Amino acid sequence: MNIKRLVDNLKNTYILQKMQYLSDQEGIMRRYIREKENWDLHLKKSKSFILKAAETKQKGKMVVLGSGWLLDLPLDDLSKQFKEIILVDIVHPKQVLRKIEKYSNVTVLKADITGGLINYIYRTIKTDKKKKQKTLLTSANLFSFSLPENTDFVISLNIMCQLHIILIDYIKKFNTYSDSELQNLVTYIQQSHINMLPKGKSCLITDIEEEILEKDKLIGMNPLIRVDLPTGKFFANWQWKFDSLMTYRDDFKTSFNTTAIDF
Ligand SMILES: C[S@@+](CC[C@H](N)C(=O)[O-])C[C@H]1O[C@@H](n2cnc3c(N)ncnc32)[C@H](O)[C@@H]1O
Repeated sequence: MNIKRLVDNLKNTYILQKMQYLSDQEGIMRRYIREKENWDLHLKKSKSFILKAAETKQKGKMVVLGSGWLLDLPLDDLSKQFKEIILVDIVHPKQVLRKIEKYSNVTVLKADITGGLINYIYRTIKTDKKKKQKTLLTSANLFSFSLPENTDFVISLNIMCQLHIILIDYIKKFNTYSDSELQNLVTYIQQSHINMLPKGKSCLITDIEEEILEKDKLIGMNPLIRVDLPTGKFFANWQWKFDSLMTYRDDFKTSFNTTAIDF
């Protein structure tokens, strides 16, 4: 690796660490270990939906957005069906890099699925605050992710409702943008994600609502998606018992209503 690439990599890792992308991903695995029994049903449903969606697709290049720990991806089956599989995430855990070594047709792409908002926000938010300006309001729409050329099948894998969370949490620390401006940004990020998924070649799996439970009684519901989802050729809905041990929200359990759409 040349010096410039090494420096860029270090800078990038520093930004991801500062913005909590690294700890967030580690947190997913820790929560999975704690909640394995509850999560397994969700993971099984994700995997079987993906295999059903794969049936009707050309078997050339497949792209997985938000591959993370591969918990919800039936990689073994898919690697036998598709010529090439590209796993896309902002961070690929070392364990995953080791796991995929045995597949000659599986590669990773380290990329920001928002098309660059992570770096842009990190670089501009402090200056925005200092200069009392709001560049994000006019620049966010310049960012969108481009899929690798000739993608036959793309899976948005339990990522859509999360794409904005770390970004918004980070922006909030600077008290620069109003709640309604931040909501507009969330809508933009989600709409841009949907727009990038090609019709007839996509499978979208995302949480759409959060249920908050007190002693297993529903006491609140948060919508997680602010845009219209595509009507699919087929779809499935299920509940994911995300946090039964009350470590995500103190004193409350959290479940998600998850939807999967083939379109
Ligand atoms: C909830 S996980 C999805 C579950 C994942 N398939 C797994 O098994 O771990 C979300 C993943 O999206 C990644 N991610 C979040 N924001 C991203 C972005 N802007 N670009 C690329 N990946 C992102 C995270 O690093 C994480 O691995």
